[in-house]
Amino acid sequence: MPEAIKVRPPTPSGLYFLNKTMNKKDVKNIKEKAEKEIEKADTLEELDHIYKKYLAQNKGELTEVLRSLGDLPEEKRAELGKAANQAKDFIVEEIDRRKEELEKEKGFDVDIDVTAPGEEARVGHLHPLTKIKRNARSIFKQLGFSVIEGPEMETEWYNFDALNIPENHPARDMWDTFFINQPADEEQGRSLLRTHTSPMQVRHMEQNNPPLRIIVPGRCFRHEKPDASHDIQFDQIEGLMVDEDVSVAHFKAVMERFLDRFFKKDVESRIRPSYFPFTEPSFEVDVKVSDEWVETLGAGMVHPNVFSAAGYNPERWRGFAFGIGVDRLVMMKHQIDDIRLFYENDIRFLRQF
Ligand code: DAH
Repeated sequence: MPEAIKVRPPTPSGLYFLNKTMNKKDVKNIKEKAEKEIEKADTLEELDHIYKKYLAQNKGELTEVLRSLGDLPEEKRAELGKAANQAKDFIVEEIDRRKEELEKEKGFDVDIDVTAPGEEARVGHLHPLTKIKRNARSIFKQLGFSVIEGPEMETEWYNFDALNIPENHPARDMWDTFFINQPADEEQGRSLLRTHTSPMQVRHMEQNNPPLRIIVPGRCFRHEKPDASHDIQFDQIEGLMVDEDVSVAHFKAVMERFLDRFFKKDVESRIRPSYFPFTEPSFEVDVKVSDEWVETLGAGMVHPNVFSAAGYNPERWRGFAFGIGVDRLVMMKHQIDDIRLFYENDIRFLRQF
């Protein structure tokens, strides 16, 4: 059986290119054919079609020639390459030229109704979460808090142990964790995606002396099944105030101020006892929204063990801490019932804010 001749796949025009027989004449033919078609083209779509026919990445006639150059002997390659590249430039220029011509002609043809209402220009805007975060930051700044940020990838030590949640403590189950697939560090334990912004309490206290007032806005991650009120990522704002005589009364005053300014009205709120390993006592703050109590944040008085882990004398310092679920807050403010909407980037949803 004779050896099959290798041919390239047919081009849109049905031409078969035999690598060996491609020569300058073929290129010239392609060029002339294109020139005629461009001259005849009457619409921009036709021009676009011609461009694709000859120059598309995939199966454009001239593209195929350029691609086959590699198979040619060297002397032929240079010669044919030059011709093919010139043809390519020529076609591109001709198409541009014809395009301009058509645009000019069309410009005179189109009927313009100068009384028709204009189309409203759509201007982009900040994401609802970003707006709320900025708003919350600025309120806390007015209340004398500094804004700091921390790493999204944390260690077991800061995310848990330093916050009085030792390994095997049942409270660890409160935070379903994404661990990083890396060997554990002897002192810091495994790496993980922070499950809350609380680790920054300890990091900040290690580096700064009291008195202090900070908030830590940031993204957190939990390994849970997403539903209307849980997502694997969400935003929190951590708060921490430490001084010699800080009490629950200070916390209450700060929180009430914040909520009133945030919702721009007198907000009804209540403090309920709760449990967090890093605070004692711990509480939760509920806010009344259309006659219902909605859980908004966790808080408490900083646990002595947390002060110790950060190198503070627990006999001397007192503090309150809190963690606000930002997504929750936005959902309350705008009556949104599904947290996943924030991260899906559906423009129809985002446009409403
Ligand atoms: N870190 C807690 C969480 O993610 C929220 C929290 C509760 C933060 C009490 C605090 C706090 O600072 O005192 O569920």
